[in-house]
Amino acid sequence: MAVDEATGSLNDELLAIFAGERLENTYSIWNRVREQPPVLPVGPIVLITRYDDVKAALADRERYSAKLHLVGNRAEQIVASLSPDAADMWREMAMYEFRQMSRSDGEEHDRLRRIAHRFFTPRVTKSMQDQIKLIIDDLFADAEAAGGVYDQKAFAQQIAARVMAYVIGSPDLDTPKLINWANALGRWLGTHDEQRIREAYVARVEFNDYIENVIIAGHRRNPGTNELVAALMDAEGEENLSTGEMIAMVSNILFAGVETTTVLLSSGLLELMRHRDQWEAICADPSKVEPAVEEMFRYFAPVQWTPRVAIVDFEQDGVEIRTGQTVMAVLATANRDPSVFDEPDVFDIDRVGPPHLGLGFGARFCLGSSLVRTEARVFFTTLAERYPDVELGTDPDELDWSGSNPIMRSVSALPVRLGPQGR
Ligand code: HEM
Repeated sequence: MAVDEATGSLNDELLAIFAGERLENTYSIWNRVREQPPVLPVGPIVLITRYDDVKAALADRERYSAKLHLVGNRAEQIVASLSPDAADMWREMAMYEFRQMSRSDGEEHDRLRRIAHRFFTPRVTKSMQDQIKLIIDDLFADAEAAGGVYDQKAFAQQIAARVMAYVIGSPDLDTPKLINWANALGRWLGTHDEQRIREAYVARVEFNDYIENVIIAGHRRNPGTNELVAALMDAEGEENLSTGEMIAMVSNILFAGVETTTVLLSSGLLELMRHRDQWEAICADPSKVEPAVEEMFRYFAPVQWTPRVAIVDFEQDGVEIRTGQTVMAVLATANRDPSVFDEPDVFDIDRVGPPHLGLGFGARFCLGSSLVRTEARVFFTTLAERYPDVELGTDPDELDWSGSNPIMRSVSALPVRLGPQGR
């Protein structure tokens, strides 16, 4: 095949991935991307794929903005393709997201991040450990009651959403609503699909109303009961969040924390089942859970890429990047850069080497990193100690990867049997 033809078909395959198609093949496509120049234009996007370049881009606040929906050629291209009412919804959501920490820049980002750090401290995360364990024990009790056969994707989603419900001070009863909102809000980014945009719009309206009238109003009626709202809105003599900023912050945290954690706990179990010897090593020595979780972040990058928009013109590796260009820092390829990781395509829980970029890097490094590491540690340790015979209830090659958010690539279901020790 001629070089241009090969690049042409790779281009199509990448565009299919961005549209959420052919996700079962993602890593074979990423492997081909690695053979291409490290700064790779694909349709309206430029991909940055090497470890050092991705790290530098994530840390670069002079060249890049995170305000993806307001500036950027990709956003313009999407809006231009929509019907007038879908385009209005899109713009309204974009204006709203603009208030989120993840979509703010510079000093505004620093301020929101400082405030958020009042809650996301090691002390608060540690204090949540017992609650996380209770949630996980409760879900395993349900799985046992159902005969020890369950869907790990749904199970992981329940863990992630119940922990997040606890974080935002929402009653367990509302967990299904939180899951629906988080799913809908995760699916409008980068899509031309008007149905998804409408669903996200409805979720946005309902969720904003819920935060204001249930979570914040509940805290005002009973001060002292909601640690998150108190930390972010009631600090004496310090900068606080307004109600509008609080709604944006809670929404940011919910969206950032549910789907990501669901992917980690479901794809993580899939890899351990695919590498049975490593699972057995963990069962023999559960202290291996921690390095195993770090290897999961590296190996399948629960967040496959993270976008930025160029705010100045510059050239990188021979590619002209103009103001407004949407650039994707591909964590999935950076984490398998062969110049940084030995045998990058091998899943190895005993790997030693440089840190992965699965939780980002720099000023936007994942705010929930210690929380999600705790959730994963408690989940996999409980599973190893109680259910070492756990196994997949299906052939891993038959799993369905369609329908997920392409950034957070995931199976639609992962049938699991806990095995006899689970009795
Ligand atoms: C498997 C689990 C998770 C993964 C892989 C993950 C990954 C990431 C990554 C890659 C970023 C950087 C994004 C960028 O630079 O554009 C990020 C930021 C963020 N994460 Fe996570 N995350 C996870 C779980 C969580 C959880 C549980 C929470 C909340 C409790 C959370 C809250 C956030 C927030 C708020 C940001 C934005 C920080 C900022 O803009 O300063 N994440 N995460």
